[in-house]
Order: sequence, then C-alpha cells, then structure tokens
Amino acid sequence: MMSSVKQNQQQSSFHTLFSLRGSLLTLAILTLLSFTYLSLKYSTPSSQGPESVNVKVVDAGKNEEEDDGGDEFGDVYHSPRVFKLNFAEMEKKFKVYIYPDGDSKTFYQTPRKLTGKYASEGYFFQNIRESRFRTLDPDEAHLFFIPISCHKMRGKGTSYENMTIIVQNYVESLISKYPYWNRTLGADHFFVTCHDVGVRATEGLPLLVKNSIRAVCSPSYDVGFIPHKDVALPQVLQPFALPAGGNDVENRTSLGFWAGHRNSKIRVILARVWENDTELDISNNRISRATGHLVYQKRFYSTKFCICPGGSQVNSARIADSIHYGCIPV
Ligand SMILES: *[C@@H]1O[C@H](CO)[C@@H](O)[C@H](O)[C@H]1NC(C)=O
Ligand SMILES: *[C@@H]1O[C@H](CO)[C@@H](O)[C@H](O)[C@H]1NC(C)=O
Ligand SMILES: *[C@@H]1O[C@H](CO)[C@@H](O)[C@H](O)[C@H]1NC(C)=O
Ligand SMILES: *[C@@H]1O[C@H](CO)[C@@H](O)[C@H](O)[C@H]1NC(C)=O
Repeated sequence: MMSSVKQNQQQSSFHTLFSLRGSLLTLAILTLLSFTYLSLKYSTPSSQGPESVNVKVVDAGKNEEEDDGGDEFGDVYHSPRVFKLNFAEMEKKFKVYIYPDGDSKTFYQTPRKLTGKYASEGYFFQNIRESRFRTLDPDEAHLFFIPISCHKMRGKGTSYENMTIIVQNYVESLISKYPYWNRTLGADHFFVTCHDVGVRATEGLPLLVKNSIRAVCSPSYDVGFIPHKDVALPQVLQPFALPAGGNDVENRTSLGFWAGHRNSKIRVILARVWENDTELDISNNRISRATGHLVYQKRFYSTKFCICPGGSQVNSARIADSIHYGCIPV
C-alpha cells in the first residue's frame, strides 16, 4: 500500500517534470518551425518547393487598429492579426519529413540519452519524431530533417576525422537517393547539434553549413552562426536538481540574481555597476552547482528575474534553469 502510493507520487512528479522539459523543447521547435515556415513562405517563389503552399496572406493594411488592443500579442508584432492568422495556417499545414535512412543503432534517429548537458539534442530528436508536424510523405513536406546525432557518435568514441567522413557519406547518400536536396541545395533541410563536435563533423559538406538550417546549442562562439538561417537551441542540464518553481511572486524577494565568473566584458560591467545594489542578488563569484544543499539552484527560487549574461563561452544552461525554477530569464 505504502509503496504503491510512493510509486504514484514518483510517477506523477516524473510526469510534471517530463512535460515541463517537453514543453521547453517543443517551444524551441515551434519557434524554429514557425520562423522557417514564415521566412520560406515569403522568400521562395511559389513555383518552387512542395506544391502550392496556398496560404492566404491577409491584407495587413486593413482593420489593423481595430483588433490589436487587449490582446497578448499586442505589442510584440507589427501586425498581430496577420501574424496570428499565418501562425494558425502554419499549425494546420506545416510538415516536416525525417529521412528514414541510417541504422538507428548507430548515429541516426535515436538520441543517445536524455541526460547531461547535451540533453537538448536528445529531446529535439524525440519531440520531432512524435510531433504532429511530422509527415511520412516527403512530397507534402516543407522541411527535411537530417537525423544524425553527433553527440551519439562522440559517445561511441568516433574520431573527429571519421565523424566528418560519416556525416559526409550519409548526407551525400541522401542527396543522390532523393530529389529533395537538389531542389534548394539544402536550404529546406535542417539538423540539430548540441555539441561543438557536431559543427566540426559537418565541415566536409560546405553546403550543409552554408545553406541548411542548423539548430545549435553550441558551447563556443566560433561556430560561424549564421543569424538569418541558424537557430539557437537553449541548453538544458538534465536532470534538474530541484523541483520546478511556482508562480509565487511573494516569495521572490530579490529583483534579479546572477552568480558567475566575470569572464566577458558584459559580466565585468554588470558586476561593477550592480554588485552593491540592494535590490539585486549579484554574487562576487561563481557558485558551484554542487555546493552543499544546492545553494546555487535555491537562489533561483527567491528572485523575480534571472540575469543570463553572455560569458566567454556560449555554453550555459542558465536560461532553461531560470524557466524551470520560475524566474524570468533576462
Ligand atoms: C576511423 O575509420 C577507420 C576506417 O573505417 C577505422 O579503421 C578506424 O578505426 C576509425 N577510427 C576511429 C577512432 O573511429
Ligand atoms: C543531385 O545533384 C548531384 C550533383 O549535381 C548529383 O550527383 C545527384 O545525383 C543529384 N541527385 C538526384 C537525386 O538527382
Ligand atoms: C512561500 O514560502 C513559504 C515558506 O517556504 C511556503 O510555505 C509557501 O507555500 C510559499 N508560497 C508559494 C505561493 O509557493
Ligand atoms: C561595493 O562595495 C565594496 C565594499 O564596500 C567596494 O569595494 C566597491 O567599490 C563597491 N562597488 C561599487 C560599484 O560601488
């Protein structure tokens, strides 16, 4: 009896956590999808690509003033009504095809694990596979996912040179087998990598780097991120050390929190300007995640905003931590 109650509790807390992680990644995927869908729709002539993406573009000039007010999108978009209609169209029609090739036991299809600091890559694979945007019919797809997990390759001890060769052979086999790549030279293809080796592993295929959409949560700045087509994927460090924080603003007594190394210009300035500010909780130095009683993680519970300044590396789980513990990442 006792043990079954316990199990139930464990299960339900697992579900809560799981759905939170899931929704984080789903959000990232949705952003990616809507972003690329909208940009593809406006940038490609309608003769190209899958047959007639026949989306009604609403006349942006009309009636705009009437219905913007009181709406949660109000201030964010130039034309919230147009955005909403297009977004609804996208949700209905948008499709992604996942190439089925490759042995799922090696580097393709399956994430290595959903823990550690590269968990975002695994979640991305899992969520896109289960997504309602997935189609098994490549002819109705708007985007094509290249399912190669560099993280998994690294886990198998593959050398960097061999990774480059493996990725090159794999993508070249897709290019010769299917007609889809050649239609756009890869511009409607995408892949995900949460590890800098993933960036190196694609070097053998310049078009993959230059044309395809890369969802990267790279640890370094030297990955040649191309803002008009690449998408930043937040890192998430799994599992979370403590349960999710709630909407408990009365317990969040400090306005903002940051603790970290002063290893970038913005961090040095931030610390210099705010270190003695009584409304903020700015630590002199980094607090290790492992510090007894999870001091670092608990600070997230007591603050309204969590400051996420860029450091010497891009690598940071701070944004995902902030959302999980209930403070607003800024
Ligand atoms: C790289 O590939 C070669 C040829 O397949 C193989 O002999 C070698 O063991 C591989 N090295 C590593 C570290 O994977
Ligand atoms: C795509 O183009 C490449 C290079 O021109 C060619 O080798 C390949 O066979 C083409 N793929 C298909 C499916 O026709
Ligand atoms: C605020 O903190 C107190 C003491 O830890 C706790 O009992 C209470 O439930 C918290 N409030 C909310 C809304 O979580
Ligand atoms: C903050 O306080 C410390 C100790 O009093 C002082 O050395 C430092 O200059 C102060 N920083 C700022 C920005 O005022």
